[in-house]
Amino acid sequence: MKTLEERDASVIWHPYSQHGLKYPILPVVSAQGAYLYLEDGRKILDGISSWWVNLHGHAHPRIARAIAAQCEKMEHVIFAGFTHEPAVKLAETIMGGTHFARAFYSDNGSTAVEVALKIAYQYHLNRGDTKRQKFLALRHSYHGDTLGAMAVGEPDGYHAHFRSLLPRVDFVEPCDLGALKDLGSYAAFIFEPMVQGAGGMRMYPASYLREAIGMCRSHGVLTIGDEVFTGFFRTGTCFAYEYLGIAPDLLCLSKGITGGFLPLAMTLATESIFEVFCSQDMRQAFLHGHSYTANPVACAAALESWSILHSEECQARLTVIQAITRERIKRFKKARCIGTIGAVEMQGEHRSYLNAPPALLARQALARGVLLRPLGDVIYTVPPYCVTDQELHLIYDVIEEMLYSIGVGG
Ligand SMILES: Cc1ncc(COP(=O)(O)O)c(C=O)c1O
Repeated sequence: MKTLEERDASVIWHPYSQHGLKYPILPVVSAQGAYLYLEDGRKILDGISSWWVNLHGHAHPRIARAIAAQCEKMEHVIFAGFTHEPAVKLAETIMGGTHFARAFYSDNGSTAVEVALKIAYQYHLNRGDTKRQKFLALRHSYHGDTLGAMAVGEPDGYHAHFRSLLPRVDFVEPCDLGALKDLGSYAAFIFEPMVQGAGGMRMYPASYLREAIGMCRSHGVLTIGDEVFTGFFRTGTCFAYEYLGIAPDLLCLSKGITGGFLPLAMTLATESIFEVFCSQDMRQAFLHGHSYTANPVACAAALESWSILHSEECQARLTVIQAITRERIKRFKKARCIGTIGAVEMQGEHRSYLNAPPALLARQALARGVLLRPLGDVIYTVPPYCVTDQELHLIYDVIEEMLYSIGVGG
């Protein structure tokens, strides 16, 4: 009989994988708390929350129960012309106390970004302003892999093949306020507040975005905060834009929203944006939707995750995770952290995402029982919030050992 790995090798095309390199694909049989359990009996500590989606640990019993209860009531319904309690309650809960007033649902981070870009573009058209044909974005950013989301991501990165297919975007370096010129030609400015995640956990100051948002606002450019990664306390505050003292006009959420159980995304908008789409004319409506929009089971998972997130126990853990991350980061020459995110730069020659060393390091970490996935020359930690002090220290011990063992540490 063929093993799962062999069967996988004959039918599956994995994401972000060069199958020609024949890297091993590891069968996972279960996942609990901060650990993945492999078919060969190994137990792997998830140092990156499984691509940043998991918040409270794998198979969290409260979220599992909320999902089961919702499944017995209603698994899914069309969301055009119909509504349901989990979707409305989640929108009320997440937007409560913010300046956002309308939630548009979709099902992954890229679609949350597509929705925001399309809303921003159509917003100007609906107001009769046809000059705003471009978007403004930051270098080193990542917003997803669909066409619109790729367009606003780093132009020289691994999306470069597709550049000629994409909408028009101008890029500026984070912190370069002088580069924000001719703002009258932009529909929107999109950014990942405080941390550019996939671009290498690049952290940049709140003061820049505060100024940039102010400048955009005074020139009629909408601002889009992409918090697909930074949302739900990854940076210490519930949303990273809270550091800025000014909120963007549109906000993209996904990844951790369901605690890592089910795909779900929200694009939040202000009431004044929503009003520009309300008229008697169907062509002014936002004609966009996905089959699984506002899936009730995913919304139920998100509500339970939100409740766990705001519990005293979880908030206390977050404080400890942040303190340990800050302390461990200090031991490296080139390293940074914000909230629960820690990043260490490998010293020595630049190492690109497409080169072998990050994969080599990931394999070395796995051999020591820790799941890490370096981004170019940056090794980072984004642990689930259930991680214990000892487990987080172990992750950093492994990083220290690995960097010194291959001579790029320090
Ligand atoms: C900031 C940001 N935006 C958007 C996305 C795309 O999300 P998804 O992979 O769910 O499409 C990601 C994914 O890493 C992200 O980090």
